[in-house]
Parts: sequence; structure tokens; C-alpha cells
Amino acid sequence: MKALVLSGGHGTRMRPITHTSAKQLIPIANRPVLFYGLDALKEAGITEVGIVVGDTADEVMNTVGDGSRWGLEITYIQQDAPRGLAHCVLISKDFLQDDDFVLYLGDNFIVNGITGVVDEFRQQRPDAHILLTKVEDPSRFGVAELNPDGTVRKLVEKPKEPRSDLAIVGVYLFTPKIHDAVNAIRPSKRGELEITDAMQWLLDHGHDVRSHEITGYWKDTGQVEDMLECNRMVLETFSADVRGDLDEESTVIGRVVIHETAQIRRSHLVGPLVIGAGAKVSDSYIGPFTSIGDGCELADTEVESSIVMDRSTIRGVHRVQDSLIGRDVHVMPARDVPRTHQLVLGDHSRVRIVR
Ligand code: TTP
Repeated sequence: MKALVLSGGHGTRMRPITHTSAKQLIPIANRPVLFYGLDALKEAGITEVGIVVGDTADEVMNTVGDGSRWGLEITYIQQDAPRGLAHCVLISKDFLQDDDFVLYLGDNFIVNGITGVVDEFRQQRPDAHILLTKVEDPSRFGVAELNPDGTVRKLVEKPKEPRSDLAIVGVYLFTPKIHDAVNAIRPSKRGELEITDAMQWLLDHGHDVRSHEITGYWKDTGQVEDMLECNRMVLETFSADVRGDLDEESTVIGRVVIHETAQIRRSHLVGPLVIGAGAKVSDSYIGPFTSIGDGCELADTEVESSIVMDRSTIRGVHRVQDSLIGRDVHVMPARDVPRTHQLVLGDHSRVRIVR
């Protein structure tokens, strides 16, 4: 069994971060979200992995490498433009050949892995197997309508008026029958080859599409709030591991993880939180559910419930909360007189300012 991991796409909902970077590489507790998916595939006993890449191919390839870190054999497959999830399957036929495979969306986050469902699929081998989970806002997702006996009746992509609250999780299991489907379907109204249409084609042609409702945590990290929530989830699982250079005037409470090369001065840290390599924190408060990336500098600042990516600097800001801050960002106070906000923001940035 192989895996096809999707790591291209538009990433419009994660702008401006995705103007310059792959959304699958946004860190959750200081590790790219994509790495958690690769962990899960390895754990499920899969070693041959194809990764579909788009505009951010170089960054993804440099970060993930050849997969030897996981004991995986990775093949990169270039997609010319984000033409849909089924298009990714279509262009990966040479890699997939006639093997069964897991289709894994590289920005999806699933707790407790996929080993159970992969084992079940290996034993039963339906033509396709999807994972479902109840959500509050089904119109944001691919949605499954089930028959009274639990079999799948209909699959609809982002329905305006959803008839079910069962969202399709971004992990699908397929036999080679899916290739007939992706070859047969046409682009949807939004111009993409939809994987839900391909699975609907399987259903319409009498193939066996099964579903399984997961109860564990799953998140499509397409939006900032989802990233912050996953960050909280992962930090919750951490145990304290305080290394680094801490002075006596600093205090640490709860599950705090500090890299051995980080430096903390006169600061108050309340976990769960993680501070990356070479980070410098002084005269600051870092509160629960915060990830501070490698090489960041925080001085005279309060940060809580946020992700601060590598090499960013925050000085004299009280306080930053529920924020996603990209790489090499500088946040600092403006001049006292006149009292004014001074902003240099990339396209599609979002800022909330205290009045
Ligand atoms: P989505 O999140 O559905 O799409 P997107 O990345 O275009 O995001 P947005 O809606 O915010 O513009 O994609 C799910 C995953 O599949 C994600 O990791 C990106 C990847 N993908 C591809 O690799 N190729 C594609 O053609 C598409 C549509 C997505």
C-alpha cells in the first residue's frame, strides 16, 4: 500500500502566510503540520509516499527531504496548478500504478493516527473508504449523506444547504478503481476536479464506498483559528522539558519545553508552551498554548495562545494573543507622539488593534 500526500494548493484562507510559504509547513508546536501526517503514515506501516507539490515545491522538498528521517521513500510529483484533489490522483498514476493507497491532505491534522483504519481497509478492501466526523458547519466541507443502514448514499462538496453534519475527513483509502473515476469526471463549477465527484462516480457505478465515523480529534487546518486550535491540542500532550539558559529571575510554571540553545532572562513562562532553538526571551511573559519558533526574540512583551514562527522579533508589545505571526516579522511600538499605528502589512494581512 502506498500514500499520496497533497502539499500544493492555493492556500487562500491562510494568506498572507501562503503568499510566501506552504501552508503545510506552518508549525504546530514548532513542527510543520505536514510532519504529523508523515508520522501517521509511517506508523501505519506505509513506506512508499508520493508528495504532490505546487508553487511551493522547493520549500516542501527542502524541508521534508527524501523521507529518510521517517524511514519513508518519498517521490515528489509536480502539479502545474491547483486543479483539484482528484487532479492530484490523475497526475500521480505513474507513481501509484495499480496499488491501493491512502490519499492524505497535507494540511490535515488527525490525533491517534490512521493505523486502525488502514488495517481495516487492508482486510476488507472496499473500492473506497472514507472517514467521517460530525462538524458544526458542514457547508465548509465535503459532506456525506448516509442511508439508514449506514452505507454511503451521496457525497457533496461544500453544500450550501447540507443535509448531513458528517464532514469527510482529509484521509481517504482507495483501490485502483479510483483511477477510472478520476478519468471520467469533469471539472466542477469552481474549475477543480473534485475527489467527492470521483467518489460519487464510484457510487453511481455500483462500487463499494464505505465510511467510518471517527470520534477522535481531526482538523482541516485551512484557517488561522484551526492552526491555533491544533497548536493547543499538541501542546496539551507535552511534558515539561526545560533546558536552555534560564536566569534565576525567571519563573517557569507547568509544561514548558525550552530548547537547550534558548536564552531566558527575567521572564515568566506559564505552559503548556514551547520555545525553539536560539530563541531569546527577556523581561517578558509567555502564556499557555504558545509556540515560539527558532531564532525568535521577545523583549518586554506578553504573548499568549499564539504561534510565532522562526526568526520573528516582538518588542514592547502588551499583549499579543490568539495570533499567527509569520517568519522574520518585526512587531514593536510606534513613537509615543503622535500616537499612531504604523503598519507595513503584506497583501491580505489581518490586524486587530486595541482602541
Ligand atoms: P484545500 O485546503 O481544499 O485547498 P487549498 O490549498 O487550495 O486552500 P484554500 O481553499 O484556502 O485556497 O486543499 C487540501 C490539501 O490539498 C492542501 O494540503 C492543499 C492540497 N491541494 C493540492 O495539492 N492540489 C490541489 O489542486 C488542491 C486543490 C489542493
